Amino acid sequence: MLAITEYREVFLDYLNNKLKIKEPANLYEPMVYILGLGGKRLRPVLVLMATDIFEKEHKEALDAALAIEIFHNFSLVHDDIMDDAPLRRGKQTVHEKWDINTGILSGDAMLINAYQLFENYEGDTFKELAKLFTKTAIEVCEGQQYDIDFETREDVSIDDYLKMIEYKTAVLVGASLQMGAIVAQVDEDCKKAIYQFGRLLGIAFQLQDDYLDAFGDPKTFGKQVGGDIIENKKTFLFLKSLEASTKDEAKQLEYLYSINPEDNSGKIETVKAIFKSSGAAASTKKEIEKYTNLAFDVLDGISIPEEKKTPLRDFGKMLMSRTV
Ligand code: IPE
Ligand code: IPE
Ligand code: MG
Ligand code: MG
Ligand code: MG
Repeated sequence: MLAITEYREVFLDYLNNKLKIKEPANLYEPMVYILGLGGKRLRPVLVLMATDIFEKEHKEALDAALAIEIFHNFSLVHDDIMDDAPLRRGKQTVHEKWDINTGILSGDAMLINAYQLFENYEGDTFKELAKLFTKTAIEVCEGQQYDIDFETREDVSIDDYLKMIEYKTAVLVGASLQMGAIVAQVDEDCKKAIYQFGRLLGIAFQLQDDYLDAFGDPKTFGKQVGGDIIENKKTFLFLKSLEASTKDEAKQLEYLYSINPEDNSGKIETVKAIFKSSGAAASTKKEIEKYTNLAFDVLDGISIPEEKKTPLRDFGKMLMSRTV
């Protein structure tokens, strides 16, 4: 096994060799731009790690890892349009730098490019990878639709929210690990278990993303801090605040989430104060830990040597302490 940073290096070498601007430049430039902006590369690292964990050479999984990262970046380009987000990885979003139409079509082409990469696998491996990818991609669309629907719905429950983040985010983390297991051709039980591990870790990951969206450091976060508050996203922070705050604060919160003011700074400050005073910020931290530990419980049950589990546990712990 390699260290997490080494898997990232292996992946980046592979990615950088593939990143080329072709004609028409307005289609391919945004792709090269977004994929070159960096990011944590968590999902491709998971694909490669899982392949090694299940005793196959990780180089065999590079195309699956690339497919996952291209798909992830496609989803970000479209997500930034849907969320009206100005910043991604500390730089302008694609639709801000170019325009919305460019973001739509470049995103579409990335999705298709991602699919194409599975053609580099043979027989059953190809079929299984493509099948998992299709199922995951449609679930991500469903999750994204719920996310948008919830902005204007007033009856969102914590269970609704958890289902939504499972679909928009966690299934792709599960699929990344399962793709490694597919390339390594392990048995069905292992494939299912490693998927469940990733799914639970992915839920913790999105809870943390929502936490950082409110409480991240604007200097380092790379996205617009308070973006979810501006967009009236019914996150765990918001839903828990409604449950735990005083009647007056809950009323105020509901009101603030029904308006879209020109200047959002006052709204963001008030909402963040309620997230803290209600105890919702602390509950979110607890929930992140809960889902991470649930993921670790699943990992305990997988029949692989203990030393292979350690890097995955380290990965989970690293996610909990991240600030970006
Ligand atoms: C952002 O994912 C989108 C979510 C699912 C929260 P990442 O936080 O993995 O984004 P990058 O690739 O590191 O920028
Ligand atoms: C993004 O969720 C999920 C997908 C892109 C599918 P967010 O909207 O919270 O992601 P960020 O915060 O913009 O990265
Ligand atoms: Mg977004
Ligand atoms: Mg979004
Ligand atoms: Mg977010």
